[in-house]
Amino acid sequence: MAPGLMTILLTFITASYVPSIISEPLNYKDCGSDHGKIIQVDVSPCPKQPCPLVRGGTYTVNATFISSVDTTKTTAVVHGILGGVPIPFSIPEPDGCKSGISCPLKTGQTYSYLTKLPIKTIYPCISLVVEWKLEDDENKNIFCWHIPVKISDG
Ligand SMILES: *[C@@H]1O[C@H](CO)[C@@H](O)[C@H](O)[C@H]1NC(C)=O
Repeated sequence: MAPGLMTILLTFITASYVPSIISEPLNYKDCGSDHGKIIQVDVSPCPKQPCPLVRGGTYTVNATFISSVDTTKTTAVVHGILGGVPIPFSIPEPDGCKSGISCPLKTGQTYSYLTKLPIKTIYPCISLVVEWKLEDDENKNIFCWHIPVKISDG
């Protein structure tokens, strides 16, 4: 093979590997953020997608968003969606105002919602979609995102 072509190929291969080395922002699906706008969602560690979640492990969640309402209360509501069916998922701290957000929220302000997601050992080893909502005073979604995950024993 010509050295020139080899260089081009190597450059191409290297370039195509870069995104998997640098941690990328998580791909999420907006599931109806009627009272806000999602900027970025991070689940850590999540080296690849769907996020591999190990039973017994604890993951950090950082969801950055702009509020489009004034609200005194923010409540996180989490579901695991299995075959289209949402199953309530309990989280240690449902109060968004105790999860990195300084309440009351003001319209147009950017906030980062920070919390922990423990993966209990009793959870089944399955692939599912996590639905994470943050509701305001009127129970409307400030954000709602979906991320696919895979629960396993590592
Ligand atoms: C959360 O994410 C935002 C946006 O990427 C970033 O500015 C902020 O520093 C993060 N917070 C923490 C505690 O990691």
